[in-house]
Amino acid sequence: MSKEQSRQSWNPEDYERNAGFVSDLGAGAVDLLAPKAGERILDLGCGHGKLTEKLVAMGADVVAIDASAEQVEGARARGLDAHVMNASALAFENQFDAVFSNAVLHWIKDPGSVIEGVKRALIPGGRFVGEFGGAGNVARVALGVERVMEKRGLAIADYWPWYFPSVENYGGHLQAAGLTLGHMELFARPTPLPGDIIGWLETFGESFITAIPKAEQKTFLQDVRDDLAPDLKDDQGVWSVDYVRLRFQAFLP
Ligand code: BEZ
Repeated sequence: MSKEQSRQSWNPEDYERNAGFVSDLGAGAVDLLAPKAGERILDLGCGHGKLTEKLVAMGADVVAIDASAEQVEGARARGLDAHVMNASALAFENQFDAVFSNAVLHWIKDPGSVIEGVKRALIPGGRFVGEFGGAGNVARVALGVERVMEKRGLAIADYWPWYFPSVENYGGHLQAAGLTLGHMELFARPTPLPGDIIGWLETFGESFITAIPKAEQKTFLQDVRDDLAPDLKDDQGVWSVDYVRLRFQAFLP
């Protein structure tokens, strides 16, 4: 996963500590991709490459891209063929059996630019398969951030970094580009965190946090945490985030 149009940077170690589950939970999307040995696959937004490694282990010939140089460095350290590239400006033509993407596309507010690049990258009959945040994703987290920002006179909409579409919206973009829809599914996937919600906010919420003066950021995070605790922290002290996933499959005729 990487920064595209939003204000968000990545530290591979922080990411692994606070969000290592993201690649593990990508297994359903990999099942839908069903990579075959020898297939040439583009992993769009490979992050530090944990899930890309699985595609390689399944026998696919994988090229990986990510907009974050730090993440690409981490992916290369795993021996992957990874490159720094913006998903909105893919530089491939007619060469992949499939383009795959996990937990990335919600960072790009202009889906059309990505889909056009994917279409160019695929061979005829190729497929675009992936999963990302769909309509309603992290709604409770966003509500907490919104309330706390409002108390400081800030509007969350001015700092909103994500695109969380419905099946109809994203399916419409895929079809408008000439792709044929396959499996399309929106489902809730509440996800327990390995640590505190503040770690999650620090990893993913740069857009909001940097709207707050540096000296107040710690209090801001604590206030958001207090707002979220009644709904997202259980009796054992385990935090969960209210993820909603959009899983999709589309084909180039
Ligand atoms: C997601 O994977 O859905 C996601 C992760 C971080 C922030 C927002 C959404």
